[in-house]
Amino acid sequence: MITWGCQMNVYDSGRMADVLAPLGYQPTDAADGADMIILNTCHIRDKASEKVFSELGRLRVIQEAGATAGRRPILAVAGCVAQAEGAEILARAPFVDIVLGPQTYHRLPEMVARASRAAGAVIETDFPTEDKFDHLPEAAAPQGLTAFLTIQEGCDKFCSFCVVPYTRGAETSRSEATVIAEARRLVAQGSREITLLGQNVNAWHGLDDSGNPSSLGRLARKLAAIPGLDRIRYTTSHPRDMDDDLIRAHADVPQLMPFLHLPVQSGSDRILTAMNRKHTRDDYYRLVDRLRDARPDLALSSDFIVGHPGETEVDFEATMELIRRVEFASAFSFKYSPRPGTPASGAHSQIDEETKDRRLYALQDLLRQQQEAFNLSKEGETIEVLFTHPGRQPGQIGGRTPWLQPVHALGPESLIGHIVSVRIEKGRPNSLVATLNPEFAPA
Ligand code: SAH
Ligand code: SF4
Ligand code: F3S
Repeated sequence: MITWGCQMNVYDSGRMADVLAPLGYQPTDAADGADMIILNTCHIRDKASEKVFSELGRLRVIQEAGATAGRRPILAVAGCVAQAEGAEILARAPFVDIVLGPQTYHRLPEMVARASRAAGAVIETDFPTEDKFDHLPEAAAPQGLTAFLTIQEGCDKFCSFCVVPYTRGAETSRSEATVIAEARRLVAQGSREITLLGQNVNAWHGLDDSGNPSSLGRLARKLAAIPGLDRIRYTTSHPRDMDDDLIRAHADVPQLMPFLHLPVQSGSDRILTAMNRKHTRDDYYRLVDRLRDARPDLALSSDFIVGHPGETEVDFEATMELIRRVEFASAFSFKYSPRPGTPASGAHSQIDEETKDRRLYALQDLLRQQQEAFNLSKEGETIEVLFTHPGRQPGQIGGRTPWLQPVHALGPESLIGHIVSVRIEKGRPNSLVATLNPEFAPA
């Protein structure tokens, strides 16, 4: 399985492995010698989807080598490019056996059976009426100390630039009971941290046991009652769906980590309107203030797009001003990339590449400074770290702070799986260096 794109694709690849396990398939890292190769793709920006056909060229060579050895692997293209391009993939890459969109993964065994009968390629890119989550197996492979759990999919917001409403379909929420049951299973399998996923995760409104729509704040409180679930995160949130109860949950629920990815995209009201984001710059400021009132140590990250059609220097400067005012602990930023079928791609006022490059450079420079300042601000503090893996150097272990900063410390591997108070000795641009504090035993 080769997985590109967002965390939801990572989660989906895991679920595809689960649905294939009863057929005898086991995940492997090497495409060479595999019986099946699944390329799980992303359509979000031009570069992301361009990669697909060059990767397919590489996989074709592996497929042909397998065929010569009498074991031709099945080649499947999944994910958002599969959804968006469908039959076009087979036209350009006829050696592909299966093309399947994100809502059809529960049907994968049947598609494999059809493809094995060599009756031609199989395409499944409809949005099925049945809910895939009702048809995916409950028995899932353990994910380890930190796990992803998709609770919501799709999007009804139709931002001017974005393909997600087209590739993932309409917004849907899984029920509270199925989410809690899956969280319990993950914890029983050893996960101590769960990140709830959705393209619009805070729009989640899954039905509760009485059949009424619930909300993410309520879900967070219920999940926090699961013994052994120490850390809860959720991503990605839309500013519009951040309701009072969810903000209050950040004050009341200690398991809810004080780090929130809350994409704003732009600091210019004119561009926010053109983007169809349905909130203003001041709405965002007010929201950040309320979140920080609820949880004073809350740190924020965001996504930014520079060079959306119509963006002037004044608009760009407004984005820089927003960044200076909010101060982000980390962020992702992108040059606007026209996507087929989205409203902004047809706009007349496209911005030239050179201007986009210049703006992106300036913006990333400022964000980098803020990230480094945030990391440096932790020096000398005692912080709880969930250690998850051996470090790169011998004797080192690695983990994450509540703010998702990577941390390394010298310490025994027996601490992996524990939340340990450490002293932060040094803040680096992308990570922290810590020493173990002997007074604190592992929790
Ligand atoms: N649901 C999330 C975003 C999902 S896409 C939200 O509403 O914020 C992840 C990020 O990719 C977006 O936040 C945006 O910054 C970026 N992105 C999406 N479409 C893009 C495009 N056409 N060009 C450049 N960046 C894009
Ligand atoms: Fe895309 Fe906007 Fe939906 Fe986010 S809210 S997934 S950016 S359309
Ligand atoms: Fe990419 Fe689809 Fe995720 S377009 S970002 S894989 S929802």
